[in-house]
Amino acid sequence: MKSSVGLEALSVYVPRHFLELKTLAQANGVDPAKYLFGLGGRRIAIPTPAEDAVSMAVEAAARLIENYDVQKSNISLVIVGTESGVDAAKPIAAYVHGHLGLSNHCRAFDTTHACYGGTAALRMALAWATANPRLDQKALVICTDIARYDMLSPGEPTQGAGAVAMLIGHEPELFTLDPYPESVYTREVMDFWRPQYRQSALVHGHLSIDCYLSALESTYRAHLAQSGLRWEDFDYLLFHVPFPKMAYKGFCKLYEIEQSQRSPARALPPLESEFQKRTQPALVVHAEVGNSYTGSLYLSLASLMESGDSDVAGLRLGLFSYGSGSCAEYFSGQIGADAAAWRGKIGISRALSERVEIDHPTYRDLRRASEVALRGAPEDVAEHRSTHNLKHIAFYGIRDDQRVYGPVSEAARLTSGERTNEKTSGRA
Ligand code: CAA
Repeated sequence: MKSSVGLEALSVYVPRHFLELKTLAQANGVDPAKYLFGLGGRRIAIPTPAEDAVSMAVEAAARLIENYDVQKSNISLVIVGTESGVDAAKPIAAYVHGHLGLSNHCRAFDTTHACYGGTAALRMALAWATANPRLDQKALVICTDIARYDMLSPGEPTQGAGAVAMLIGHEPELFTLDPYPESVYTREVMDFWRPQYRQSALVHGHLSIDCYLSALESTYRAHLAQSGLRWEDFDYLLFHVPFPKMAYKGFCKLYEIEQSQRSPARALPPLESEFQKRTQPALVVHAEVGNSYTGSLYLSLASLMESGDSDVAGLRLGLFSYGSGSCAEYFSGQIGADAAAWRGKIGISRALSERVEIDHPTYRDLRRASEVALRGAPEDVAEHRSTHNLKHIAFYGIRDDQRVYGPVSEAARLTSGERTNEKTSGRA
């Protein structure tokens, strides 16, 4: 038995629908080059009303349990990192715990600090596992979010959705965090927020970029000082990715810091070649999915591990997690020696290959339907039953002030018969 703790398993859920940013730009009357090259995106994932933060979390976790043959009775902690909370009191973790049928001898709660919430959950789970004398006990950490901004706002092309589930335990064959002192950073700022009465986020976009870069500089410098690691020690540099160009900006910042500390004789190779080598491979998934908030950094890890391009076994990663508001952390870690064994189990390649494109009117309709469902009107998932990737549970809508979930096949049956009168009020 190994003495360290870390990731034993990783699994993702990505909605089936995507919208081409070219299509969005045309509809918005914007030069497509702004979205494609200015922001670096290509497509954004669009959830159906059945795909809310709960159903996506359950889906990612259920797949993890199935694909890695995890014994449910060994899971005694569930932490959901999210900024898409569905209730001011009841955590998403409670729904996940119930729908997965986990033991009652288990803690379940959410962690929230914008996109940092997932890393907060991971850190809590690692600390718990380290302190837990029962080596067979596991923690389930899930990041789940829907990134939604107002239509026609600058943030709209950076929307996205998805969930990432991670199993934390004492046999971390997938990924282990380096044991250096933590390099964290908190500063209260109003760069991005979502009041409880709103479904879409508000943002001071350019301020948020500055805050991200300040937090990155501070935590990266601290991590280098505390770990003794050097630029060359990191095979890949991963970032929180609100949009791919942000990771490029982050990479440029680190390159600048590094270059300024070197004599001309030890100058780094050109910036572009370093970026292509150390960061670009992990950004492909973000150009396809958009912002998944808490899951974003871990989607990079998933995509790197499942990429068939190179053998990632034993490689060291530098990782930057940023949550607006703000809280950030720089850390590093190492991919396990048997990385090839995880390909296909994580599910990102398959999820991306099975997606379907939607046009702008369908995007508008799905968005409106999701918003109606979230405002409390009953919503019909039957209409969307063939258009999402959910297998385990679907969000049916809200009745009597309670969220209703059920099996995906049942969702179609239960709602189709009772929808006739609701359609007019359910859809504008
Ligand atoms: N062709 C090519 N490029 C173009 C172009 C064109 N026709 N028009 C503009 N561009 C370029 C601009 O030069 C700019 O590139 P640089 O940043 O490299 O200069 C880029 O496209 C964006 O242009 P603008 O800055 O004018 O865009 P904007 O102000 O309309 O919106 C944004 C950009 C502020 C990032 C906006 O998308 C936004 O608010 N996004 C949400 C907030 C966000 O993601 N913040 C990131 C840090 S906070 C965080 O990370 C937490 C989180 O997840 C939200």
